[in-house]
Amino acid sequence: MGDLARLLKESWSLVEEHQDKVAGYFYARIFLSYPDLRDLFPVHMDVQRARLLGAIVTAVQTLEDPEKFDDYLRALGRDHRKFHVEPEHYEVVGGALIEAMRQFAGEQWGVEYDQAWADAYAVIASKMLAGADADTNPPYWYAEVVAHERRANDIAVFTVLPMQPLEFRAGQYLSLECPRFQPRLWRTYSPANAPRRDNTLEFHVRAVGAGWVSSALVRRLQVGDMIRLAAPMGSMNLDRRSTRDAVFVAGGTGLAPIKSLLEELTRYNRTRWVHVFFGARTRDDLYDLAELNRLAARYPWLSVVTACSEDPTFPGEQGDISDVVARYGPWNEHDFFVSGSGAMVKATLKTLAELQVPSIRVKYDSFSEM
Ligand SMILES: Cc1cc2nc3c(=O)[nH]c(=O)nc-3n(C[C@H](O)[C@H](O)[C@H](O)COP(=O)(O)OP(=O)(O)OC[C@H]3O[C@@H](n4cnc5c(N)ncnc54)[C@H](O)[C@@H]3O)c2cc1C
Ligand code: HEM
Repeated sequence: MGDLARLLKESWSLVEEHQDKVAGYFYARIFLSYPDLRDLFPVHMDVQRARLLGAIVTAVQTLEDPEKFDDYLRALGRDHRKFHVEPEHYEVVGGALIEAMRQFAGEQWGVEYDQAWADAYAVIASKMLAGADADTNPPYWYAEVVAHERRANDIAVFTVLPMQPLEFRAGQYLSLECPRFQPRLWRTYSPANAPRRDNTLEFHVRAVGAGWVSSALVRRLQVGDMIRLAAPMGSMNLDRRSTRDAVFVAGGTGLAPIKSLLEELTRYNRTRWVHVFFGARTRDDLYDLAELNRLAARYPWLSVVTACSEDPTFPGEQGDISDVVARYGPWNEHDFFVSGSGAMVKATLKTLAELQVPSIRVKYDSFSEM
């Protein structure tokens, strides 16, 4: 471990157990000195109290070699434009971070820790600023909801039309804000279509438990409402040069990016066999099965296997989709795309590792922590 990394870890360990208090002090410091900055953050700060602080600490600590994470930091900086972050805010936030840690670290805090955090933060901030500066796209796009359909109790499929063209690649995700119901709360969602001439984007959203944004999108959003979208991210894309057959494994609304990739394949594929495994708890949660079956009937290279894990009379496969994939195969020569909840993605990656699928052939998006 380098000297800088050691100093960062050592100093963080002094405050780690007081994270909540550090976060409280950090935000208070920012908002007291610069009250205008309060407007950049969500109304209910308790929802995600330590989000920014946690993000910065993780970035500073894990990005021991910021050069290596150049692309990520540039994209993060570009993305921060959607929060209305201006260059001068970086210094304020960096200063508050160090003060908050010093405040709770006690006597063991030393000037070398101040310096280590200041140095690491400065490098990261400069990369983010460079990314923001180089971006010629708007910080966000307004988009109008042109269709909204409830497919199951907690699932909605809706279509939006951005006011300006928004370029993305099949399989990517975007962050989305619903200003009418949950201002300043941004969450990521994956378009379920490949780029279209008419520019529309379709989203598949499941309302999770007490989820703030997802429940608004499923239960309250209506045709005519405006949402905001920010720049596309993610690299779960098709490699057009690959001649390998492909396997798509989707759990619930994890189907969205998989459908986007499928739609792209329908435009050019003639030679690759494609297998879709679509799993959910109950048959109601297989909310887009009719459309998948329609595609399978139309394209001879496509097959669809469905499974339910909590619906014993469902006529398809029974069990978790990760186990169902293992019943088919062999899969050693395939490209894999996996998308769904953290638990589903984790279980599928484990299965694939057991089946000795090389990890380089597996791309995935996890909707929650794995
Ligand atoms: C790359 C990426 C792409 C995504 N694409 C989609 C998509 O196409 N469709 C879609 O429906 N979702 C997608 N998500 C998930 C989405 O971003 C939100 O996390 C989800 O909608 C919950 O947001 P919320 O504001 O409603 O919940 P929050 O208010 O953030 O969370 C409320 C509670 O629910 C828990 N929680 C959060 N997410 C989940 C989850 N997925 N399952 C179970 N519990 C959860 C939280 O821990 C918290 O306790 C994607 C996530 C990522 C990272
Ligand atoms: C080293 C510098 C920084 C890093 C590494 C960083 C990192 C992050 C990350 C990873 C997120 C979560 C991303 C998301 O939800 O889309 C986030 C959110 C956010 N950041 Fe930053 N950030 C930095 C500096 C700043 C600065 C200077 C501001 C200006 C005030 C800022 C304002 C925000 C806001 C408003 C959010 C959303 C918070 C929320 O939803 O609660 N960030 N940041």
